[in-house]
Amino acid sequence: MIEILPSLLAADFARLGEQIAQVTEAGVNFLHFDVMDGHFVPNISFGVPVLQSLRKSTKLAIDVHLMIEDADTYAPMFVAAGADCVSVHQEACPHLDRTIRMIQSEGARAGVVLNPATPLVTVEHVLPLVDYVLLMSVNPGFGGQSFIPYVLEKVRALREQRGRLGLGFSIEIDGGVSVDNVGRVAEAGVDWVVAGSSVFGAPNPAHAVTAMRQAAMEAVARRV
Ligand code: DX5
Ligand code: ZN
Repeated sequence: MIEILPSLLAADFARLGEQIAQVTEAGVNFLHFDVMDGHFVPNISFGVPVLQSLRKSTKLAIDVHLMIEDADTYAPMFVAAGADCVSVHQEACPHLDRTIRMIQSEGARAGVVLNPATPLVTVEHVLPLVDYVLLMSVNPGFGGQSFIPYVLEKVRALREQRGRLGLGFSIEIDGGVSVDNVGRVAEAGVDWVVAGSSVFGAPNPAHAVTAMRQAAMEAVARRV
């Protein structure tokens, strides 16, 4: 089963509750919540108080993607505010092993994120620890960018490695995914697909999620 995770970065922040209700209706299990600090990435988004409000208004799992320099300080605050999953960038975490274990000990699932140009080998040793690996298919910082196709090779290689090592982490992809390319993404082997502008930029976000999920499932059926 492939999960579509609507990215709230592309939502209308003045109508967040309404927009979440629309994608909930389409049967999503997760929301993707992009945190940017203006240092690790050249943009600022939203933070802990927004997550606290969302936590009170939805039962969906919330996947927090930290695009920040100081994940060790802020990750526990996001877990306390209701994050179910927290991912941190390999490029921003000098003590990655410790950071992953800390997120898990705080009570959330922990993911590691790789920018498009960062090789898989940089996270090889933490693969047995993590709950998921997020492969960026755009350079992080903005919604609405074009998908970088070479990331599909990383998806295939990571899936192969997971099978060879007998590990159970999920593979997530984030950036530039739409109904037009979600089939290729699914065929390459992802489990979780983040989609921002292709969901909230569509006239009907619920229909957009349903169309993406259907295209993904058809591609998976072709793969098997
Ligand atoms: C980019 C963020 C993404 C973003 C994706 O830095 O991590 O989650 O919302 O947006 P789209 O799907 O529009 O590329
Ligand atoms: Zn993201």
